[in-house]
Parts: sequence; structure tokens; C-alpha cells
Amino acid sequence: MEKNTPENLSDLLLAWYDANKRSLPWREDPTPYHVWLSEIMLQQTRVEAVKGYYARFLQALPTIRALAEASEEQCLKLWEGLGYYSRVRNLHKAAVVIEEQYNGRMPSDPEEILRLPGIGTYTCAAIASIAFGKVLPAVDGNLLRVFARMTCCEDDIRTPAAIKAATAWHLSRMNACSSSLERPGDYNQALMDLGSGICLANSAPRCAACPWEGSCATAASIRAGNTDPEDLPWPVMPPKKARRVEKKTVYLIRCGGKTAIRKRPQTGLLAGLYEFPATDGHLGIKASLTYLRSLGFEPLKLIPLEPARHIFTHREWLMNGYEVLTDETAAPSDPPDILLRTPEEIRENYAIPSAYSAFLRQC
Ligand code: ADE
Repeated sequence: MEKNTPENLSDLLLAWYDANKRSLPWREDPTPYHVWLSEIMLQQTRVEAVKGYYARFLQALPTIRALAEASEEQCLKLWEGLGYYSRVRNLHKAAVVIEEQYNGRMPSDPEEILRLPGIGTYTCAAIASIAFGKVLPAVDGNLLRVFARMTCCEDDIRTPAAIKAATAWHLSRMNACSSSLERPGDYNQALMDLGSGICLANSAPRCAACPWEGSCATAASIRAGNTDPEDLPWPVMPPKKARRVEKKTVYLIRCGGKTAIRKRPQTGLLAGLYEFPATDGHLGIKASLTYLRSLGFEPLKLIPLEPARHIFTHREWLMNGYEVLTDETAAPSDPPDILLRTPEEIRENYAIPSAYSAFLRQC
């Protein structure tokens, strides 16, 4: 039998998917909103971590219209802890556009989807294929890796040329077979499952369980003893950039039964989220007193807190902290930019990023 035909590959893949697909909440009712929301949450975030956020977000904002009508503040709160907050700011902006220009319904034309804030080529193809049945490969790391291994592609698979080649390769598999023409979203999701469970990125692939094993150039090379499955050249990883280490001092300022928080600037890292007042550097007691007075507080006692560390993609915060007991009567009633709130109010109503979670626990 000729194994390496595009028709055969799509049929094999979809049969494997029907028997092995992961049961995931966003696959149960793949409306455009559900697919869109899940795809945005799944960028840079593991499936297991997304499940709870996905359910909570939809419970609070069940439709695109509800999302458009929500405040950015509420959206950030629902995203609290997921990180990469520009994702949810763009989600909200796009919902407003969909509400205003498309009467609350996600457009089905990929060109229109692509124009929405926060939606790039991959996300557009995922929405268009899964929710609207458009024949478009959603080329993420999984589709790239599978393509590179199937063809023993020598190029760095992150380059635009390799992404173009992978897109064309998958598109021809989709186009060659009536089953994948009817189920383009399943073709894409099958490869996501194949990539996460079989054609693994960081350990030896489980070729014996792969529906494409008989047509895979890398599997053939492994069988012939020419390739070490523990040491495949894909994915080619960029050299790791050193993280910038930044020292901070964080203050849990108590004033009556309340604790001070403030809103971060609308641009830059963790834009628009709330934080405990903090300053650059590791400040001792004397410098801390000066800083706290500059915020309008009269500190009575500073109690050192356990230091904490938070790792972002390109930076790391080393945080020292103090609990600060202040003289309530001396504090200005409305210190500039500072909100005094009870711990319950802070937990319920304000989005505090995980970078501060060690301090939030003590708040
Ligand atoms: N990662 C991104 N989109 C996904 C999906 N639809 N299913 C599983 N993993 C995914």
C-alpha cells in the first residue's frame, strides 16, 4: 500500500483522533466565543491551568455581548493569575468591536477575524477552522514539529519560510481528503493532541502509537538506527536569554483594619493591575521610612516579611517586604493614588498579579 499519500494521512489522523481525543471543556460546545476564549487562554498557558479559568470566565461573562459590556477591571480580575494580561485587554477590546461592528457575533471571514485586536494568524485559523469549518491549518508548535519530523525538514522551524512550508504541507493534507475537508478543526486539534501526547517536544516521541508512523521520515530514520529518539533536532530552541534580575521592596501598609493597594500604570508590565506599594531596590528601615512618608503615611513599626521571588519570561523580581503599622490619625484621609481596602475587599474586587501572591497571602 502507498502510505505516504495525503488522503491516507488525514484519514489515519482523524480515525486516531476519534479514538483518542482529549475531552476538553471548549470542545464540548465549540461556538466561536468558546473557541476564541480558549485559544487566547491557551497561549503560553498549559491546558490543565486553563480549565478552571475558562469555566469561571464563561460563568461570569457567558456571551461576547456580556464581555463587551463588562469593565476592563472585571476582565482583569477574572484573568488574575493567568499572566500575560494584554491577552485579556485585547479580548475585551475585540468584544467591543464585535458588538459594535458585527452585532455581537464573531465574523466568519478569516480576514475579518484577523483584524480583531489580539488575534494573529494562528488564533484566526484555529477559530475559523474549529468554529466555522474553514479549511485552514492552525500552525502552532505542534503542527510545526510534526511537519518537521514527518519531512525531516532541516530548517529552523521558527523562521517565516519554515512556517510557510509547514502551512502549505498541512493545507495540502487537508485539501486532499474529504474527511479533513469536512472536519478541518478536528484535523488541527488532532495534531495538537498528537503533539502533546505522542510526537513529544521534550522527550522521545512515542512513534509506536502514532497514526503517521508509517509515513514519517524521522520514524524511519529512528528505525534504521540513524537517529537517536532521545535527541531529535526539533524543536530547535532559541538560546535562552538571561533574565534581568530586579530587586524590589514591597510594603503591606496597615491603616486601621485596611491595607494599602494602588493601580499600576495603564502601560508596561502588569498594566492596569493592582499592587501593594513597592519601590525599586532593597531598602532598609531608614530609606523605607522616607519612602512611606512620601506616600503620605506615618509609620509606627516595620516588621520584615519573608522575601519572595517571581519569575517572568524575561525578568525576575527579588522582593523583600515589610508589614508597616501606621498611625491612622496621622495618615491623610485619601493618600494620592493609594486605596485603603480590607483584605476581603482586595481579594474579591482587585486583580493582584501572582508576582505579589506571597504578600497577598499575608494581607
Ligand atoms: N491548544 C490550543 N488550542 C487547543 C485546543 N483546541 N485543544 C487542545 N490544545 C490546544
